[in-house]
Amino acid sequence: MKPDQSSRSATLRSTYDSNTRQRTKKGTQALLVCATLAAFPLATVQAADTQAPTSPEKTSSSTNTNATAPTTTPDVALLGEARNIATLVPARLLAMLTEEIEKGGPAGAVEVCSQKAPQMAKQASEKMGWNIRRVSLKNRNPNATPDEWERLALEDFDAQAKAGVAPATLERAEIVQVGNQTYYRYMKALPTGAVCMNCHGPSDQLSPAVKAKLQTLYPNDKATGYQLGEIRGAITLKKSI
Ligand code: HEC
Repeated sequence: MKPDQSSRSATLRSTYDSNTRQRTKKGTQALLVCATLAAFPLATVQAADTQAPTSPEKTSSSTNTNATAPTTTPDVALLGEARNIATLVPARLLAMLTEEIEKGGPAGAVEVCSQKAPQMAKQASEKMGWNIRRVSLKNRNPNATPDEWERLALEDFDAQAKAGVAPATLERAEIVQVGNQTYYRYMKALPTGAVCMNCHGPSDQLSPAVKAKLQTLYPNDKATGYQLGEIRGAITLKKSI
């Protein structure tokens, strides 16, 4: 596990950092909503980047990977960018979800989310220059199945949460080499808040209308039965570097 700058192994290094120094606003950042990725101005992220990491923790091992990564962008900037996206997007989504629930109740919101999510994800990814999506070990959207790297991270998040680490602080950043392609990967856990229970809570707590919608739209839905505060999944970002 020791960082080795000359290493070209499949996984260059883990910069997993459960003790991030993010200024967490629990209420907002823990909440990722149903739809996927709202587009938002790139400027927001760039501006935020400039405040990114001046501390030793943040620059940590990932900074030094420049030695092996074929990129002019310092990893520390990528980490800041990824963290910003993973924090801002959920806030945008929460706003949209709340609005939809107010307009059409949770069942109406399910419908809107299921339609908008894929197109919004695509738009945001194109705009941000990252591949951005959400995944879960018990996914609703068939496309939200985690790949191997994501599955291991999700399992680790669950284990850490079980051991008492606050779910909203769980993240993983890593430079991964696949063949001769190098990727920067980032993932952040998404715990359930109260609003999530409308559509992801235990079956007997879902309204009949929500259940019916879910059955129609997601016949293979695995994403119910969650308790408050449990990790629902993660937002996952990937960029070729
Ligand atoms: C109105 C119903 C509704 C609410 C409320 C809701 N979701 Fe979802 N959720 C969905 C639907 C529909 C999907 C599948 C569409 C998609 O991929 O976005 C989904 C998908 C997801 C996914 C992607 C992985 C998967 O299982 O497909 C995550 C992660 C997620 N929700 C987390 C949350 C969290 C966290 C909250 C609370 C902040 C929340 N959701 C609230 C309906 C909802």
